[in-house]
This record gives sequence, C-alpha cells and structure tokens, in this order.
Amino acid sequence: MQFHYQNPTHILFGQGQIANINRIISPNQKVLLLFGGGSIKRNGIYQQVEQALTGYSWLEFGGVEPNPTKQTLDNAIALARSEQVDFILAVGGGSVIDGAKYVAAGACFEGDGWDIVTGKHKVSDALSLGVVLTLPATGSESNCGAVISNTDTQDKLSFRSPYVQPVFAVLDPDVMKSLPTHQLINGMVDAWVHVCEQYLTWPQGAMVQDGYAEALLKTLLQLGGSFNNRDSDEWRANLMFTANQALNGLIGSGVAHDWATHALGHQLTALYGTDHGRTLAIIQPALLRHQLDFKRAKLEQLGRNVFGLEASGELAGRTIDAIEDFFQSLGVATVLTQEERNGQDKSQAVDALVTQLQKNAMDALGENHSIDLEASREIFNAALQ
Ligand code: NZQ
Ligand code: ZN
Repeated sequence: MQFHYQNPTHILFGQGQIANINRIISPNQKVLLLFGGGSIKRNGIYQQVEQALTGYSWLEFGGVEPNPTKQTLDNAIALARSEQVDFILAVGGGSVIDGAKYVAAGACFEGDGWDIVTGKHKVSDALSLGVVLTLPATGSESNCGAVISNTDTQDKLSFRSPYVQPVFAVLDPDVMKSLPTHQLINGMVDAWVHVCEQYLTWPQGAMVQDGYAEALLKTLLQLGGSFNNRDSDEWRANLMFTANQALNGLIGSGVAHDWATHALGHQLTALYGTDHGRTLAIIQPALLRHQLDFKRAKLEQLGRNVFGLEASGELAGRTIDAIEDFFQSLGVATVLTQEERNGQDKSQAVDALVTQLQKNAMDALGENHSIDLEASREIFNAALQ
C-alpha cells in the first residue's frame, strides 16, 4: 500500500451552516456566485447566500445546465476575467460545482478551456473555489475532479487538478427538502457506484478501505430500505455525508480503481441526455456480469458483508442480482429503452456508443484494462433494450 492522501476541503456540516461562509471567504475577495437553472431562487438557498455575502463585492452567473457545457461555461470565464473576480462560489449540485472548477481553472488560462478537459493543457493555477452543495451525489464538493460536456463534439470528459479542490463545502441537509424524488434517488445510485468503482476490483488486503467502503454501502442499503423516512433530518444527514465520503479520496487511497461503469455511462449522457445516476444503474449490472471472473472475490465479499448473503452457490452472480434488485427497489430502470434513445434502434445505438469510446481512446477500461471496445460493445448490448 503506497499513497499520498490529503483532503484539504473544510466541511461545514449541518443546518444553518450557509451563514458561516463569510468566516472563510476573505472580505477583500470579489466573489462570482455560480448557479444552475434557478432552483436556488425558489427554495431560499440563494437568499441565505445573499445574506451571508452582505458587505462583499459579488456578482452572479446563472444558467449552468445539468451536465454542464463548455459552451455555457466559457461565458462565465469571460465574466470572471472582465470583472477580475478572485473567488468562485458554486451553489448547486455536481453540475454547478464541476462547472465552477472549469471556470476557476479557465479564468487563469489564456487558451481554449476545452484543452484543460482533454489534458492538452495541464492546470497550473486556478481561482479559489467554495461550494454550497444542494444535491448529495457526486462528491464533487470535496474532490478535485470535474466532468464537462462539449455540445459541438458530443463529448463528455473529465479532468482532475489539485488546483480546483474546493477550499470549503457547506453540507446543510435542509437543502434536500426541495429535491425532486428522482434526483434524490439519482444521488443514492451515484454514491453507490462511486464506492463500487473503488472497491469492486480484486482483493488487496486493504482492510480500512474495504471496511469503510462496506459501511458506506450498508448505509445506502439502509437508506433505501427506509426511503419512506426521507423527510427526517437524520435520513437526510446520513445520505448527505455518505455521498460526500464515497468520493472524497479516502476509500480510493492505495487501491486499484475501476471507473468503467462511469466511462460507459457518460456516453449514454453524451448521446441521449440520460441523467448521470440513471446511466450507472443501466451499465453497472451488465458490466459486473461481463467482468465477473475478474471481480469474483470482491463480489463475494460484498455479497457476504453488505447484503448478508450465504456463502453457497453462485455467490458472485447472486450479489450482482442483489445490486440490480436494489436499484429496481428504488424504481430505477437497469436497461435503456428505445424510447429513451429517441427511437434509435439497438444496433445503431451500440455502434454510436462504441464510436464515442473509440474517439476518446477509451479502449482499455477497468482495473485490469480488460474492457476493450469489443467488451464495451457486449456490455452495451446487454444494457440496452
Ligand atoms: O439547475 P438547478 O436549478 O440547480 O436544478 C438542478 C438540476 O436540474 C436540480 N437541483 C439541484 N439541487 C436542487 C435541485 N432541485 C431542487 N432542489 C435542490 N436542492 O437537480 C438537477 C440535477 O442537478 P445536477 O447538478 O446535474 O446533478 P448531480 O449532482 O447529480 O450532478 C451530475 C453531474 O456531476 C457529474 C456528472 O457526470 C454530471 O455531469 N459528476 C461529477 C463527479 C465529480 N466531479 O467528482 C463525479 C460523478 O461521478 C459525476 O460524473
Ligand atoms: Zn458518478
């Protein structure tokens, strides 16, 4: 086990914590508040932020869309530059936060921001960034990754840089009160798959990472089982902290990672606009069945320690069935229908998805690099109706 680990994001957890952002943002800093389609203006979060920013010099940029695009965000970069902004405050879900990371880095780079996403430009500076999280799901509020879409090329790609790690993140579970149920569920599925991408590989004897990953998965199962209690403070706080811990770097330290479910899922979003969480529920069961031989030991461990399954018979296969049942119990489909593909037939869709992977050189995915384009084709074939 060999790793460097630090998570410098200051977490402000609990009700009423939005009021404390002015303890962290320096009063001399000019702030750009970045937000999405306007839910924050309807649920009172904007007003709390406005109150906390009393006395600051600040301006706003709204309209960051789900699966944020370079095309929209480049306008925010231009604004940040012309207004000589020092600090980006992202108020939203993963899309707004990821968008803010792109803006923070793009404002300090003369070239085309898309070069940051493709890796052509390595980020060497960025504006400071803070977060008020409104949707627990991605973990983006305390990690250094961002996923950006390009509508010209239909690409959805990610970049990582320590320069865009948020300085602070407010996690106030009350923000979840206005979330549509399907977004709440998307968040549960996303957090589940984040843990799996870092846990479901091969046994590496990493007892702390495995044990903590299993605790997070068990919590998600329990929250799914008590979904009718989702209006309680306790339920909300537990989901918010679980989703945060699932992708803040800790459980992924010193172990192999997979991330193929995400890579294939991103292509569904890029071509059909499918919500991120939904793409994962569609891909994961098919991918796990395809990769069962590589993942058998960890699937068995998950089956025993998280689902409490008996050790007899095809335990690994039964564990995958249990994961699929979990998604379905939340009302999440595990196949992509033709209707969701705007009527496109299956073979055309699979071709288009594989072409996307090929274009972006995603031809050796997974912890063993065993998911080549042919394997991806087989997985898409199993995941599409
Ligand atoms: O646009 P607004 O008005 O904010 O509405 C949003 C949006 O329509 C709404 N919403 C958010 N908080 C709300 C709310 N509605 C009512 N009340 C609230 N409190 O929810 C909708 C979806 O928001 P979005 O930010 O798109 O969702 P999510 O947090 O699931 O983020 C998804 C994006 O994050 C990326 C995904 O690929 C996708 O682009 N990811 C980022 C990761 C990272 N940076 O580490 C990892 C993830 O695997 C993921 O790939
Ligand atoms: Zn995700």
